[in-house]
Amino acid sequence: MSGPGETSVHDAVGGGPFFTDLVERFYAGVEGDPLLRPLYPEDLTEAKRHLALFLTQYWGGPTTYSDERGHPRLRMRHLPFVITEAERDAWLRHMHAALDAVVAERAVEPDVDARLRDYFDRAADFLVNARR
Ligand code: HEM
Repeated sequence: MSGPGETSVHDAVGGGPFFTDLVERFYAGVEGDPLLRPLYPEDLTEAKRHLALFLTQYWGGPTTYSDERGHPRLRMRHLPFVITEAERDAWLRHMHAALDAVVAERAVEPDVDARLRDYFDRAADFLVNARR
């Protein structure tokens, strides 16, 4: 993600707590979403933990995610779920709303905010695996 002398996004946002906060807020949105909630297990503890660890690793922090789960293979891991453009849009709506909150709270730089949002948009698009 970043070379010598560059600051990783992980460091720029102040480390893992940013991602755990982001994921908490994101899942608070998912919990009230009639389209997305049924896709997830009743107990969201592990889902939250995996997403936070994945994002921490992706953005240059500790590699606990892969130490525990192996290669992310996100597209493959999402194949069991029907993800159309509607699920993608709902997922992104909750993620952007969560970002609005944590970015303001933590005074994250606009360029870092833009990188995060652009990444989520592209990643979610890549995970669409069905059409209605
Ligand atoms: C496009 C809409 C998306 C839907 C509907 C969706 C849905 C899900 C569901 C249902 C799970 C399983 C949760 C569990 O059983 O604990 C999951 C896991 C996961 N998702 Fe998504 N997801 C979406 C997009 C994304 C995006 C954009 C990312 C990353 C930026 C992502 C990252 C992950 C990760 C890291 C896991 C855990 C994988 C593992 O280690 O098992 N998802 N997702």
